[in-house]
Amino acid sequence: MAAQGCASPLWLCRWLSLLLPLLLEPRAAAARWSGPGTTPHLQSIFLGRCAEYTTLLNLQPGNKNCTAIWEAFKVVLDKDPCSVLPSDYDLFINLSRHSIPRDKSLFWENNHLLVTSFAENTRRLMPLCDVLYGKVGDFLSWCRQENASELDYQSCPMSEDCENNAVDSYWKSASMQYSRDSSGVINVMLNGSEPKGAYPLKGFFADFEIPYLQKDKITRIEIWVMHEVGGPKVESCGEGSVKILEDRLEALGFQHSCIDDYPPVKFLMCVDHTTHPDCVMNSASAPMQRGSPSFYTTGVVSLIISLLVALTSSSQV
Ligand SMILES: *[C@@H]1O[C@H](CO)[C@@H](O)[C@H](O)[C@H]1NC(C)=O
Ligand SMILES: *[C@@H]1O[C@H](CO)[C@@H](O)[C@H](O)[C@H]1NC(C)=O
Ligand SMILES: *[C@@H]1O[C@H](CO)[C@@H](O)[C@H](O)[C@H]1NC(C)=O
Ligand SMILES: *[C@@H]1O[C@H](CO)[C@@H](O)[C@H](O)[C@H]1NC(C)=O
Repeated sequence: MAAQGCASPLWLCRWLSLLLPLLLEPRAAAARWSGPGTTPHLQSIFLGRCAEYTTLLNLQPGNKNCTAIWEAFKVVLDKDPCSVLPSDYDLFINLSRHSIPRDKSLFWENNHLLVTSFAENTRRLMPLCDVLYGKVGDFLSWCRQENASELDYQSCPMSEDCENNAVDSYWKSASMQYSRDSSGVINVMLNGSEPKGAYPLKGFFADFEIPYLQKDKITRIEIWVMHEVGGPKVESCGEGSVKILEDRLEALGFQHSCIDDYPPVKFLMCVDHTTHPDCVMNSASAPMQRGSPSFYTTGVVSLIISLLVALTSSSQV
C-alpha cells in the first residue's frame, strides 16, 4: 500500500519496495485466521452507531440504553474466538430488538452495497443492516486472541476456520430474529451476475432466514434478480438456483413472485452508468398500450421520479 502511493524520488521507492515486504512479512505470517482482524475503534463505532440510530432516525426504536447493549454484546469478546454461539448474543438481541415495519423487510445475498444504498438508512426499506442490532456490527469484525485476553487486531476466524466464530454467530442470531419479526410483503434482492449462483443453497438466507419466517404474518415474497449493468446474466427468474428458491418457497406454501432487474433498483444501479445502453430510457423499452394511457403515464413518471430521487440523494453524499 505504501509503495503504491510513492511520490518520493525513484531510488527511495525502489528501496522501500524492497524493504517493506521484509518488514511486513513476520506480521503476515503471524495471521492466524483467514478473516480481517478486529476493527480498530470497535467500541466507539458501535456506540456511535447506536446513539445515532436511537436519536436521529425518524423511526425510533423506543427507549434503548446503548451502554447496556454494548455490555451485552462485549461478553463474546471474552470468549475463545472459535467458541462463540448464536445464543451468546441473546441478551444483546433482547436489549436492542425493535419492530420492523410491515412490508419493509429486505433480504439479500451478494448485494451488500447495493442493498445499503437502496434502503436509504431505513427511509425506503429496512434490511437487517438497518435494524439496530444489525447496524451496530455492519461491515465490522471482532474476536479475542486465541490464547490471550486481548482482542485480535490481526485476523479473526471465518466459517472456513471454525463454525462458531464471533462474527458468523452474530449474523446468525441477528438473521433469525430479523426473520421472526418480518411481516407483510417480503422483498429478496439477489445478484443474477454472481457466477456461483444468485441463491446460495448454503447461506444466511437459506439456513438462518427462510426457516424462521412466520408464515401467518407474511402476505407474499417478492424476489428481485438484479444483473450488473453490462454484466453477465448468469441466472434470471425461473433459472438455476433461483428456480430452486422458487420451488422451496412454493413447497413451504408462500405466495411468491420473481422480477428480473426490478426497475427502482436498476435505476439506482444506472446512476453510475447513465450512457450505457442498458440504462438508456426510451419509449421502446417502456410498455405502451393505447388502451390505458393514464396507468402507463403514471408508471413512467414515477420511474423518472425515482431516478431523480436517486440522482439527488447520491449527489448530496
Ligand atoms: C444503562 O445501562 C448501564 C449499564 O447497564 C447502566 O449503568 C445505566 O444506569 C443505564 N442507564 C439508564 C438511563 O438506564
Ligand atoms: C429474551 O427475551 C425473551 C422473551 O422476550 C426471554 O424468553 C429470554 O429468556 C430473554 N433472553 C435473555 C438472554 O434475556
Ligand atoms: C454481483 O456479483 C458480481 C459477481 O460476483 C459482482 O462483481 C458484483 O459486484 C455484485 N453486485 C453487487 C451489487 O454487489
Ligand atoms: C493456543 O493454545 C493451543 C493449546 O495449547 C495451541 O494448540 C494453539 O496453537 C495456541 N494458539 C496460538 C495462536 O498460540
